[in-house]
Amino acid sequence: MTSLLTLHPEGLGHLVEAAEGALQSERVREAVASIRERRGPGSEFLGWLDLPAPREEHRQLIEQASALREQIDTLIVVGIGGSYLGTRAVLEATQWRREDGPRVLFAGHHLEAHALQEVVEAAGEGEVAINVISKSGTTTEPAIAFRLLRQKLESVYGPEKAARRIIATTDREHGALRTLATRKGYSSFVVPGDVGGRFSVLSPVGLFPLAVAGCRIDELLEGARMEAERCLGGALQDLPAVRYAVLRDLALADGARIEVLASFHPSLHLVAEWWKQLFGESEGKEGCGLFPAAVDYTTDLHSLGQYLQDGARILMETFLDVASPPPGPVVPGSEDDLDGLDYLAGRAIGEINRAALPAVQEAHRAGGVPTQVLELADCTENSLGGLLFFFEFAVAVSGRLLAVNPFDQPGVEAYKTNLFRRLGKPGAG
Ligand code: PA5
Repeated sequence: MTSLLTLHPEGLGHLVEAAEGALQSERVREAVASIRERRGPGSEFLGWLDLPAPREEHRQLIEQASALREQIDTLIVVGIGGSYLGTRAVLEATQWRREDGPRVLFAGHHLEAHALQEVVEAAGEGEVAINVISKSGTTTEPAIAFRLLRQKLESVYGPEKAARRIIATTDREHGALRTLATRKGYSSFVVPGDVGGRFSVLSPVGLFPLAVAGCRIDELLEGARMEAERCLGGALQDLPAVRYAVLRDLALADGARIEVLASFHPSLHLVAEWWKQLFGESEGKEGCGLFPAAVDYTTDLHSLGQYLQDGARILMETFLDVASPPPGPVVPGSEDDLDGLDYLAGRAIGEINRAALPAVQEAHRAGGVPTQVLELADCTENSLGGLLFFFEFAVAVSGRLLAVNPFDQPGVEAYKTNLFRRLGKPGAG
């Protein structure tokens, strides 16, 4: 099977050998088996394992998205957490290869007045549609943004025409958004009941807005399907996702408290944000888990690089590498070489960027940070689909190794309850 991603764990030192033993242990075997056999805590939320498989609904979704794509200039995606991060991650990572199409704006993922106002104003310019995405339908941030955006759209087009420009993605039957969609006649998609928000990017939550933007979602699903086949059937020693979970587990036992995901591609910044939610919400409970942090290199080498090199030794670092990045422009020669850069003349930026990774890895290893490299073949939808499924499977196994339920997020509720009380929500105490 062609590999979309490869794990190079050599920089983790003694953990590499320990992982060989752990991969044969009953503990790891059971962790993987419980996911494959769909049992254990949270097993009612394992529907994401099936999302990459071909479905009739994909064809309909692509048709609906293609039609909308022709009609609009702007799609506004309203959602927070798992209801927007995956979409934004794939969108930004594939920006470089997309044909012209509607611009995509995001709202509902914060409560900052100025930024929200800008999107509301954009809703009044040109041909606009809104995809409001909320599994529960009651999350404060997207609910507020949607009220404002709906009001704007209704003032521009009138209530009936506005309703034809709103697509709701929510629970099949329950929740405020489903009720509203039915009442107002919005067209809608379903967030599967057995898929949690942070595992939903390969459902209509991510697929519809991505297809409207012009992403090749058939390739995204194909990449995920290839990785799913590998994760659900392969021998444990041959599975990078399981090895990654085991190595994190060993690093935690060895004193690491933070995993830093480091990429050299700003276009992957949102992939790291998505990864942070996936690992933070899945593992960070009952006092467990590595804190997922992310850095953008080489930018952050001039800020957090100092801490990585010399700070508290509680880190492990995973480099997210791209094997075939676009080469980009070539460094020009100069007459006087005043900046001393002529030794780089004729070399592509992509090549120079790639040379930075081993240099940083060498430095951080020497500074006592265990490191590994997760190499992505390229930044196409195909490879990204594989990467998304890779991380989803890895975090599921990792949660099992930590003996927590990786599919709930009880801690997210605490702030919501306090906010409701402070804002005076009826019945919130
Ligand atoms: O992982 C999760 O389930 C959460 O972070 C949700 O994605 C987030 O709270 C948004 O929830 P909803 O889609 O219900 O608005």
